[in-house]
Amino acid sequence: MNWRAIFKPSAKYSIFALLAVGIIVGVVGYFTTQQVLHATSTDEFCMSCHSNHSLKDEVLASVHGGGKSGIVVECQQCHVAQDPFGYLKKKIIVSKDVIGYLTIDGFNTQEWLEENRAEQAELAARYFRQIDSSTCQNCHNRIYEDQPETMKKMAVKMHTRNFEAKGTEKYKTCIDCHQGVAHPFPREGKSPKFRAAK
Ligand code: HEC
Ligand code: HEC
Ligand code: HEC
Ligand code: HEC
Repeated sequence: MNWRAIFKPSAKYSIFALLAVGIIVGVVGYFTTQQVLHATSTDEFCMSCHSNHSLKDEVLASVHGGGKSGIVVECQQCHVAQDPFGYLKKKIIVSKDVIGYLTIDGFNTQEWLEENRAEQAELAARYFRQIDSSTCQNCHNRIYEDQPETMKKMAVKMHTRNFEAKGTEKYKTCIDCHQGVAHPFPREGKSPKFRAAK
């Protein structure tokens, strides 16, 4: 192969034709990626591997299941950072779970979830700490400044105190104080069994 030929201006095609082809390939590529990323952001996608886990029913039974406000929060709205870079990064991390799915014995069973919930919750929590619970803050965006008047006094006090501790060791992220906002939280390492209300 003559490598130098690659860098020589093409004799056969004009530079404009090549540029046009390049742009088309780029645009198609961009939209395909968007489509794939979009398809992998639905609850259905998450549940394709977690199909025998009670995770979705747990969300529906929680404060985030649409009870009072009629909003059912999607898996990725909590679990995947929404800024473009964080989003891609998390997607790449999730894609490694394909290997786990294929290799972890009995992964897609409720028994596995119950047995491993404490450890899985810790892994999930670690990610929330990494992103400073930014996903929670996307929706709950009046926690620290500009708090609504209707917010409980206790909540305003705790949130204000925490906000002032930002940058210090005392600072906590949302999920350090609010545990189990979507799933039953494993206390003292014990995994609670989830039974959906009929
Ligand atoms: C390809 C199969 C697959 C898909 C798709 C999938 N998961 Fe998982 N998930 C797994 C496996 C396997 C584990 C256990 C990982 C381990 O312990 O190594 C896991 C663990 C988790 C955990 C706990 C551990 C951690 O690292 O946080 C969360 C949270 C999670 N998944 C959320 C999701 C969400 C949200 C989606 C949709 C965006 C999703 N999963 C899609 C296979 C999958
Ligand atoms: C997609 C938007 C959205 C996301 C993301 C979200 N929440 Fe919520 N959250 C809500 C809504 C809406 C309610 C109120 C539900 C209702 O009252 O029906 C709520 C309720 C709550 C409550 C209960 C408040 C009360 O009145 O008792 C807490 C605590 C909470 N969320 C914390 C969190 C935490 C922590 C996270 C991140 C792990 C999070 N939320 C992520 C929208 C969201
Ligand atoms: C309102 C935010 C929120 C929503 C919506 C949500 N999760 Fe979670 N999830 C969390 C938090 C926070 C944890 C960490 C442990 C805890 O505090 O309960 C967690 C933990 C987990 C775990 C580890 C096991 C466990 O129970 O702790 C898995 C797996 C998981 N989530 C998957 C999902 C899937 C799949 C969906 C969608 C059906 C979903 N989550 C929807 C916030 C959420
Ligand atoms: C230092 C602990 C702490 C941290 C950090 C914290 N909260 Fe709270 N939060 C509380 C306490 C305590 C309350 C009042 C008791 C309750 O309603 O659970 C509260 C109340 C709330 C409420 C209900 C407000 C109301 O008026 O009923 C929401 C929603 C909430 N927090 C969301 C969040 C979100 C989102 C974050 C992260 C941005 C966060 N909190 C960080 C301690 C904390």
